[in-house]
Amino acid sequence: MKKKTILDLYDMKKKGEIATWMTAYDYPMASFAEQAGIDMILVGDSLGMIVLGYDGTVPVTMEDEISHCKAVRRGAPSTFIIGDMPFGSYQESTEQAVRNAVRFLKEADVDAIKLEGGIRVADKIKAIVDAGIVVFGHIGLTPQSSGAQGGFKAQGRNAESARYVIEDAIAVEKAGAQALLIEGVPDEITAFIKELLSIPVYSIGAGISADGQLLICGDFLGMFQEFTPKFVKKYASIAEVAIGGIKDYINEVKNKEFPKDEHCYHIIKGEEDKVKK
Ligand code: KIV
Ligand code: NA
Repeated sequence: MKKKTILDLYDMKKKGEIATWMTAYDYPMASFAEQAGIDMILVGDSLGMIVLGYDGTVPVTMEDEISHCKAVRRGAPSTFIIGDMPFGSYQESTEQAVRNAVRFLKEADVDAIKLEGGIRVADKIKAIVDAGIVVFGHIGLTPQSSGAQGGFKAQGRNAESARYVIEDAIAVEKAGAQALLIEGVPDEITAFIKELLSIPVYSIGAGISADGQLLICGDFLGMFQEFTPKFVKKYASIAEVAIGGIKDYINEVKNKEFPKDEHCYHIIKGEEDKVKK
């Protein structure tokens, strides 16, 4: 399989072909995603909740992200991979933003990075793009600043809030980002932004009008049990399958049904006596 580039994503948009995008954080899930034929993988800092067991994304570090991006690249060598810049890795200065974006490419071989915010991070987007790195913007509901947004709340549902989202979208494209992710925004606003911009506009919980859809693997594959956002459809129940398998294993061991002879090694014929000596 030939590896996709940003030009392939532009081409898909031009042809009206919807792009499919999911998160993955480790080797097995990345490998499943590539085998299934997904277009893009995000190594989201949702890592914090889905895999590391934190309450939110804020504690996730550059080291966490790099380590998981490397595992995902090993599992999905031919898929377009986006590394997610964690909270605190780009807020201080354009220098810090470029330095950490560069690490994603040099150390983890990702194809692009994503960072949260519109107008407020436009200088960081521009600096990273100027360094020759493909940038995905991320606006609307932005989990790293969910504290400032009063929790995980849909954005752009009234005129004032919608105006902020639209101004952010314009700022992201003007800063040079090659793609935009919109999260938790009404479909009407996403449709308006898609008409306004020329870069691909992707959605997570932002309706049906976008150029592509993103979901978190923990949500749509039923691995994450804490809560499920409204915009998620569940396509599999990994937690149920795993718990069921673990229960069967426990029962069979307790009842001495496992292991059976077929699972045991035996001494090579003719060696039995020598071993006992
Ligand atoms: O970290 C992540 O998975 C994300 C999505 C929620 C957009 O940024
Ligand atoms: Na994220």
